[in-house]
Amino acid sequence: MPDGQDKIRRSTTEDDITAAVLARFSATPDPRLKQIMLGLIKHLHAFVKEVELTEAEWFQAIEILTEAGKMCSDKRQEFILFSDTLGVSMVVDLIGHRKPEGATESTVFGPFHRLGAPQMPRGGNIAHRDTTGVPTLVSGRVLDLEGKPIANAELDVWQTQSNGLYDAQDSNPNELHMRGKFHSDGEGRYLIRTVLPVNYPIPSDGPVGAMLKATGRHPWRPAHIHFVLTADGYDPVTTHIFDRTDPYLESDAVFAVKDSLICDFTRHETPTPEAAKLGIAGPVYTTEFDFVLKPAGAEAKTDVHDAQRRLAALGAR
Ligand code: BEZ
Ligand code: FE
Repeated sequence: MPDGQDKIRRSTTEDDITAAVLARFSATPDPRLKQIMLGLIKHLHAFVKEVELTEAEWFQAIEILTEAGKMCSDKRQEFILFSDTLGVSMVVDLIGHRKPEGATESTVFGPFHRLGAPQMPRGGNIAHRDTTGVPTLVSGRVLDLEGKPIANAELDVWQTQSNGLYDAQDSNPNELHMRGKFHSDGEGRYLIRTVLPVNYPIPSDGPVGAMLKATGRHPWRPAHIHFVLTADGYDPVTTHIFDRTDPYLESDAVFAVKDSLICDFTRHETPTPEAAKLGIAGPVYTTEFDFVLKPAGAEAKTDVHDAQRRLAALGAR
């Protein structure tokens, strides 16, 4: 052994191993990566020490992550489900989308968005193949923070069918259904025809489902409709509207409910004039929701279309 080598202090205790690992990352050239890696090591080591993780538990975690990776496909993103059900997606959302008072709040993107939804005219029906759901009209305006209308905003909308499944989960997974891109008119108004949203369980036949079961949690999401709004000169917003009567509002499996996004869906036994104009003959639900966008800020970090493309490439569809 060369001179002095025997004097090098090795990491042998639970405390100095953490210090040694932190020191090894301390020369990371990119300052943001350095901050993330140092924070990760600090909290990960603290977690392992706090719960005194056993070797068997550590191995089980490796098995769970391996299984999650194997489940990911062009129709399934198990890691997003983990992030959502652990509340991490919502923490990231809350940090990334701090909004001024009055602007529409964002919520989770989820794994079921698909690129290429068809362009729809005002009143277009996204549920044209759904024969069992109750027809529903969603209308409102897209406004700026002063209440002025925003014309030509794009509303990219998606929802489950009335059987609680997204198109990609059903029998013709390659066909788009329950999706459409609408535009606000000169007064900021939009009108969407769909069916009443239903509550549904997130996919629970994999490691996320096993985690929910083992921890006494259910997989249900309250009834909702997804939106991504984009307009020139404004920050995009990824959000949902929720049905106020849903029993799962208080226990959404992915923690995505915000009070400001809850809507009243009103049942009409005979069609409203607008519904009749669209050819709806029987009972219909209507709801109104105004979206309020904030002017594009220099701080806008994520291009929402870039996020959509990256998720699609991961197979999130
Ligand atoms: C959804 O609403 O589509 C969703 C969100 C998070 C996890 C699973 C599904
Ligand atoms: Fe959903």
